[in-house]
Amino acid sequence: MTAAVSHREVIARACDLLEQWTGFSLRDTAPQRIAETFRRRARHLGYSDPMAYFEALRDLPPTADEPQQLVNLITNGLTAFWRDEPQLSALQSVLRHLHTPMTLEPIYVWCAGVSTGEEAYTVAMIADEQQIPVDILGTDINTDFLDTAREGVFSSWSLRRLSAARREQYLAPADDDHWRLDHPAFDAVRFAHHNILASAPPSAHPDGSWDIILCRNVLIYFSDDAMTTALGNLAGALTETGYLMFGSSEQIHPERLGPDAPHLRSIRQGGGFLYRPGGSRTGQTIEPGRWDEDGSSAIAPIPRPHNLSGLEETTSDASENNTVLHLLGTAADHLDDGELERALACLEAALGYDPFQVEGHCLMGSVLSTLGASQQALEAFQRALFLQPHHWFASHRTATIHQARGDVDAARRAFQRTLDDLSRNDDPLDDTIVLRDIIGSPSRVRLQAERQATAFLRLHRARE
Ligand SMILES: C[S@@+](CC[C@H](N)C(=O)[O-])C[C@H]1O[C@@H](n2cnc3c(N)ncnc32)[C@H](O)[C@@H]1O
Repeated sequence: MTAAVSHREVIARACDLLEQWTGFSLRDTAPQRIAETFRRRARHLGYSDPMAYFEALRDLPPTADEPQQLVNLITNGLTAFWRDEPQLSALQSVLRHLHTPMTLEPIYVWCAGVSTGEEAYTVAMIADEQQIPVDILGTDINTDFLDTAREGVFSSWSLRRLSAARREQYLAPADDDHWRLDHPAFDAVRFAHHNILASAPPSAHPDGSWDIILCRNVLIYFSDDAMTTALGNLAGALTETGYLMFGSSEQIHPERLGPDAPHLRSIRQGGGFLYRPGGSRTGQTIEPGRWDEDGSSAIAPIPRPHNLSGLEETTSDASENNTVLHLLGTAADHLDDGELERALACLEAALGYDPFQVEGHCLMGSVLSTLGASQQALEAFQRALFLQPHHWFASHRTATIHQARGDVDAARRAFQRTLDDLSRNDDPLDDTIVLRDIIGSPSRVRLQAERQATAFLRLHRARE
């Protein structure tokens, strides 16, 4: 096998495996970097070559440690409390419509692809405000996101769309920049690990079905086959009178569901829209406002990233690089102007195109850390370190976050790692474009990192 063929083979097999696990169509993402990641992970874990690593992965269940870390790496968890007002006001109406006063039976809501939990907690607030009993399950494929969801502590950044009145009512300050859930309404929310390519988790309803399913901003990067499977699973889990909701920029081709899947019809109200199983009554009025049933399937498909290049034609990341570099450059401009939120949006878009971009994860971690989202910042740097295990900048930033959080043990481990990484010959900043510009002179930053790590370790070893 020639080197070129074997290189393509690594990319093709890696993409197939990642698609099989998550549903993501990664062939158009950044084939070179996918191969690079497999090479780096193989080397780091002591496999003779990327194929040996691939074969070991293939034999593992997707929930084993290494596959799960890859899954955690490629999933984008962008979310916030009170995200997408028009859809939420549609949800409000649906809850009222489904609620039968005088019954104690809750309305069963499943948030599929809930990320770090803000969506499920938002549904709990909406139901609480209307005094409607609910039972909410939030599921996600990413175990790091679920840990954050269960912890229930959120940065001001996550709460930026929540009114001050609701923030005061439902959360309590945890520190200068964080809020902790603090209301019995959240007792209705639980979380579980679940992949929407698998059959739906049962609700506590006697037949296990769900009254409302939210699957917002999840299917965007799915391949057509994976989308069909996921839509079939979601639609099949609804009660006959249930509602399925996507993000406001996502609409589906119901015909994609295939001949055996339940038929879905779209329902619109104002800017919000949902889908219902085909058997339900038409022409219903849901308060407030009238609902227009729209059974047409002539609706726009879920927008995808540009179909940039096929694996068969090329294994170059050139065009992806242009898009990603453009987004990173724009992020840098926003950082220069102190526009952190805009910078974050560009970085999220860049990593949506190419989740294997180490520099993007480092920039994301730096911005999140400045915004006070220390947990999310740590996760961004962990992603960078997973992709490039000896990245001194990522290990140093990880250490400083642990230090600021008062976690001395974690800081000590990360500072030690920083020194080990700094002692290596190759400097990951040599390959960066934007990061190097932003942090200033790399040699000065290296020296500062080294001094800070040495001082911290000296102090804390002395205290042991
Ligand atoms: C962009 S977030 C959306 C979060 C939330 N629904 C919202 O709209 O704010 C997408 C989430 O879908 C999850 N996800 C992606 N593929 C998944 C799959 N196959 N099964 C379950 N969750 C998945 C990701 O881990 C991520 O947390």
